[in-house]
Amino acid sequence: MTDTIDFDRYDRIRPIRWTGDALELLDQRKLPFEVEYVVCDTSEAVADAIQALTVRGAPAIGIAAAWGVVLAARDIEAADGAEAAARLDPAIAHLNAARPTAVNLAWALARMRRALAAAGSDWRDVLEHEARAIADEDLAANRRMGALGAALIEPGSNVMTHCNTGSLATAGFGTALGVIRAGVAQGRIDEVFAGETRPWLQGARLTVWELQQDGITPTLIADAAASHLMKSGKVQWVVVGADRICANGDVANKIGTYQLAIAARHHGVKFMVAAPSSTVDMDTASGDLIHIEERDPGELFGIGGTRTAAADIGAWNPVFDITPHELIDAIVTERGVIENPDAAAMREAFGA
Ligand code: MRU
Repeated sequence: MTDTIDFDRYDRIRPIRWTGDALELLDQRKLPFEVEYVVCDTSEAVADAIQALTVRGAPAIGIAAAWGVVLAARDIEAADGAEAAARLDPAIAHLNAARPTAVNLAWALARMRRALAAAGSDWRDVLEHEARAIADEDLAANRRMGALGAALIEPGSNVMTHCNTGSLATAGFGTALGVIRAGVAQGRIDEVFAGETRPWLQGARLTVWELQQDGITPTLIADAAASHLMKSGKVQWVVVGADRICANGDVANKIGTYQLAIAARHHGVKFMVAAPSSTVDMDTASGDLIHIEERDPGELFGIGGTRTAAADIGAWNPVFDITPHELIDAIVTERGVIENPDAAAMREAFGA
């Protein structure tokens, strides 16, 4: 076992690239079959890309939206930051409406607006600097939380994860997948099980591909196999990311996370949530108050454009769920580890 992590060896993918003129987004609808960047040169194009899941994952959509504000700023003239902020409000609101559940989107946009409102005549430079800082801080947070989370995992463990929480979902390295990368790099984790994550297959298409780029070969399981896997004693930890962490420690994450937490508790498997502090929403008291995104039922009718469901049916497609804090053993952010999270522990870590 080693404590060091070779970040370059384990972190090669960048889903968001700012060229100086435009935003390039690795098209996550096409992976792993095509590795292709989509060019966005307007904030509307960025909002559409967020809505369409071209770019996805809580931190990544916040970063993309921040660059969307930089693009929107090209269409306006203003003497100072306060005037620019007022003129950019419609574009900011449009970006904010692209997806409702991950708080990182609203967080990044609020941060961009705050920086702008305080800026003078150099407000264009301030905006660009802030967008870059949001991305850089996310990468640093992921590396830090990777080390913190991995330290909780006993050498010789196997882990299971859900959805995609890696470089593709962040500025780089990943949240839960960062913990897993760090755990593998340190020799703590032997085997990684990845759930498919129906209906959009973030696990089967994205997580598996991403780990392969690092030379890590995960074992894919059907989502429905998770309880059976846990019962078999083959995994010691479930490690997932988050789209929003409430003031009482409740966690919104990809649909299916809640049932993993229930199964984990039943089978004595530990459950870890890894997310940057930008995912913490101390203004939302509990998970019941979170707006859960519901997407087009058509996403459930087939796979890869081939219809698999019977014709003329309805479907319900909530894409996130809430895991109550009582089922979580540890929340890991770049600020530290919160064991057995509840309102008091969250307050102590993040203030009121
Ligand atoms: O619908 P998605 O693919 O954007 O959902 C992503 C997730 O639920 C992730 O687990 C979460 O955003 C954490 S990503 C570091």
